[in-house]
Amino acid sequence: MINKCLFPAAGYGTRFLPATKATPKEMLPVLTKPLIQYGVEEALDAGITTMAIVTGRGKRAIEDHFDISYELEHQIKGTSKEPLLDEIRTLISQCTFSYTRQTEMKGLGHAILTGETLIGNEPFAVLLADDLCDNAILKQMVKVYEKYECSIIAIEEIPTSQTDRYGIVAGHLIDNSDDTYRVTDMVEKPAPDEAPSNMAIIGRYILTPDIFEILKHTKPGKGGEIQITDALLEQARKGKVIAYKFKGKRFDCGSVEGFVKATNYFFNKGEEQ
Ligand code: UTP
Repeated sequence: MINKCLFPAAGYGTRFLPATKATPKEMLPVLTKPLIQYGVEEALDAGITTMAIVTGRGKRAIEDHFDISYELEHQIKGTSKEPLLDEIRTLISQCTFSYTRQTEMKGLGHAILTGETLIGNEPFAVLLADDLCDNAILKQMVKVYEKYECSIIAIEEIPTSQTDRYGIVAGHLIDNSDDTYRVTDMVEKPAPDEAPSNMAIIGRYILTPDIFEILKHTKPGKGGEIQITDALLEQARKGKVIAYKFKGKRFDCGSVEGFVKATNYFFNKGEEQ
């Protein structure tokens, strides 16, 4: 069983400056919902109710979003606007939220290690809210975890020209029916001519807790940051890591282009309903 989901949300979001100067990237809205709310909904849909969020300076709006806003709620009580808060109220009542702060932004691997205090010694999901997904990807991954009981990473085929934006994996297909690969190699943001494949890691993981011990001795890698890909490669070499080609749509909302695509996609989807 996967009970907890970790949300690394401490990054600066520099690609969205100046919007992210005083507003967390995770709070940018696609239509009327902030990115992190979509993430929490996806985790809940996968049967996970404990949300563990790694924040940093200037990210208090995330905590306020998942709390009651007495003044506002009092003000709109009994008016036609009250139903606009129904969805978030229901979400809050179904989950618990805990927070810790990453005081120095030393990379995604370091952010995950910072979350150890909230996770403890059990397998857990990791969700990067800026990768916005449409089709219950975490739920699919929990099923894959139940079969293999090791760390699972979600992958997507990307154009070769974009390998330097992602962690890239190499592996051999172990089960055609569920699109799973045993990972043999992993490189962070390689140039296209150095990439071992075009299979990119996206912001969904299920990790076994031994990853924390590995992260404690993982040295800074690409960009001087502690990379989760380096720790996962060690885990793959010592034991087993499975890459899963998910079914569904993903938008890179950490980039302006991906954000606009996601907004159009969800708007059109809403119009069709
Ligand atoms: P990104 O690589 O997208 O970095 O991080 P960023 O700072 O958020 O955005 P840019 O590149 O400056 O525009 C991937 C994920 O890892 C988290 C981020 O919050 C994001 O969800 N992260 C990254 C941390 O929590 N801590 C870090 O030190 C680095």
